Amino acid sequence: MASNIILIGFMGSGKSSIGRRLASLTGFKFTDTDDLVVEKTGMPITEIFSKHDEEHFRSLETEVLHSLKDASGIVLATGGGLALREENRPLLKQIGTVVWLDASADALFERVSRNNRRPLLLTENPRETFDNLLAFRNSIYEALCDIRIDSTALNHERTAQAVLDALTQIGK
Ligand code: S3P
Repeated sequence: MASNIILIGFMGSGKSSIGRRLASLTGFKFTDTDDLVVEKTGMPITEIFSKHDEEHFRSLETEVLHSLKDASGIVLATGGGLALREENRPLLKQIGTVVWLDASADALFERVSRNNRRPLLLTENPRETFDNLLAFRNSIYEALCDIRIDSTALNHERTAQAVLDALTQIGK
């Protein structure tokens, strides 16, 4: 069987929507680390951040990732900060082919501004917070990924197809 597909990238990069499309195109099972954390704790992510803290959430993400080490036939959408923990990076590589869904800062910000489900952006100046986080994280995504897809000008359908084409190109 072809390798699992792991989607990384910033909030708003479309990991869940594109992941679902990829799952239906490949027959793989769609899995989302945020959903697994919510299932595990019975709490929405905003509540995990408010009752505990970011570090606690990151530990839950790492636990969830360990539980996927032997998974096969999955498309895995990851939370935008999951790649921050160094110990998660080799795990991601072990689980599957890592695809970075990238887009321009303006496109990402426009997408994340549609709702306030992202606790990290509930600050006095969300755009500044966003820009700082993005600048720091992009270098991590870049170093980690096997494939980078820029979805700025693509809809979900075309982005999913671009991911599949790129996977074929590298023989995955
Ligand atoms: C986070 C991204 C969110 C979620 C949490 C923290 C981050 O997932 O895991 O709010 O640190 O970037 P999405 O990338 O799916 O929005």
